[in-house]
Amino acid sequence: MNILINGVRRDAAPAWKDDTLLSVLREHLGLCGSKFGCGMGLCGACTVLLDGQPQRACLVPVADIGKRPVTTIEGLAQGDKLHPVQQAWLDETVSQCGYCQAGQIMAAVALLQTTPRPTDAQVDTALAGHLCRCGTQQRVRAAIHRAAAQMARSPA
Ligand code: FES
Ligand code: FES
Repeated sequence: MNILINGVRRDAAPAWKDDTLLSVLREHLGLCGSKFGCGMGLCGACTVLLDGQPQRACLVPVADIGKRPVTTIEGLAQGDKLHPVQQAWLDETVSQCGYCQAGQIMAAVALLQTTPRPTDAQVDTALAGHLCRCGTQQRVRAAIHRAAAQMARSPA
C-alpha cells in the first residue's frame, strides 16, 4: 500500500492498515502539522484535503484512501513561498496558540478553491465545524477575505 501525500508517494506498511490517516501522518510519517484534537471528527484540528476535499483525518481509515491524493498543511507552500492563505494568516496575525490553525487553513484553502470570493456567511458556514478556544474566528474571516483578494490579483 502507498499513499500520495503532498505530491510524494509514501509507502504505508501493512501493519498500519487499521490506523487512521491522522495517525499515519503524525506517528509514522512525521507530518505533525495536522493536529489531534478530539479524535472524533468534532473539532477540525486534523483537517486535510483528500482529493481536494476537506476531510477529518482522524476519521479516515488509511486503508480507504486508495489512489486519492492527500494534501496536508506541509504541502501548501512552494519552497519558501507560502500559499496565499498561509500568508494572509500571517498578515492578519490570526494564530494564538495555533493548535486549531492548520485545520482552519486547510478548510479555507478548500473553500477558496470552490468559492473564490466568499461572503461572510459562506466563510462562517465553511469554517463552522472548526473549534478555536482562543477566539480567532474574526481574524480567520479577515484572513480568508485577504487571501481571496490576493488570489484574485495573482491567480496561481
Ligand atoms: S481531531 Fe479530528 S476532528 Fe478533532
Ligand atoms: S488558536 Fe488556539 S485553539 Fe485556535
